[in-house]
Amino acid sequence: MAVKHSLYHETGKLSVDRERCTLCGVCVKNCGVEVLQIKDKAVQQVDAGFGCIACGHCMMVCPEGCITVSGRNLSAADLQPLPPQEARADAESLKALFIARRSVRRFSDQPVEPELLEQVIAMASTAPMGIPPWDVGVVTINGFEEVRGLAEEVVEGYQGVLKLFRPGALKMMRPFMGQARYEQFSDFIVPLAHKYIDAWEEGRDTVFWGAPAVLIFHYSAYAEEPDAVIACTYAMLAAESLGLGSCVIGGAPPILQRNKALCARLGIPPGNKPALALVLGSSTVPFKRGIVRRFSHEQSAGLQ
Ligand SMILES: Cc1cc2nc3c(=O)[nH]c(=O)nc-3n(C[C@H](O)[C@H](O)[C@H](O)COP(=O)(O)O)c2cc1C
Repeated sequence: MAVKHSLYHETGKLSVDRERCTLCGVCVKNCGVEVLQIKDKAVQQVDAGFGCIACGHCMMVCPEGCITVSGRNLSAADLQPLPPQEARADAESLKALFIARRSVRRFSDQPVEPELLEQVIAMASTAPMGIPPWDVGVVTINGFEEVRGLAEEVVEGYQGVLKLFRPGALKMMRPFMGQARYEQFSDFIVPLAHKYIDAWEEGRDTVFWGAPAVLIFHYSAYAEEPDAVIACTYAMLAAESLGLGSCVIGGAPPILQRNKALCARLGIPPGNKPALALVLGSSTVPFKRGIVRRFSHEQSAGLQ
């Protein structure tokens, strides 16, 4: 049995060079899905649970480098050397990046080099996902005109939302929606739609903030939304490290999700759902100081 993926339906396939294997067992110990064992003096893949997910951990930890895993979009060619310790970000530099990052909504008229966006995507693709391989896709929209064109379609989508949820109609739906959902629509989505539309009519794009580039992260029916959210978060931090300002945009995906024709034009496979967008460009607002933020609840207690 294999964990289903929109493109890959097989389990990973282990291959061990028995001549070089010392039976140290590191691969067996580290296997997160417990499908390896030492039997008959050999490391073997057992047919258990949902099978090998091709995370590649066994070939990454093998001291002899004598394991390869293939399948599920993985092969030995995907191995890469580890950066030396001194080249890795330490807590200080990472914390400095986090504190200095801000959501950017004012962009210069400088376009973004396509190579820079490729670098952002390559860095984001190192993020963890629920079950490998990635079943998340990313659409790049690069160019002020292209981004504005997409923003216009999102604004039109919000005009449709307002028609559907006219004040009287929304009140009538209230018993079927539940209080929280009703309040989400009446107090957030409807005012947000008005804000987008009014700004657009004044010539301002408050969907993508006039950014020169947008990345849209979408996920298949076999993946989980957090996969795409984590990928987008990594992209945001990668952009910051590359000197690009960015802002996560949650306001556009709900409209994109409803517009199948637009998703098709964007190259999003049918069945995949846009989760988040990320606008990118050069910031024109120099922040002078950072801010301390806290989670709403931080407990260190155990169960009561
Ligand atoms: C899931 C998510 C969705 C967001 N959606 C939007 C959005 O649609 N439009 C926008 O201008 N900002 C959006 N933001 C940015 C937040 O408003 C921003 O993070 C917040 O104002 C705090 O600012 P900071 O990122 O500079 O700390 C979003 C952020 C997240 C994490």
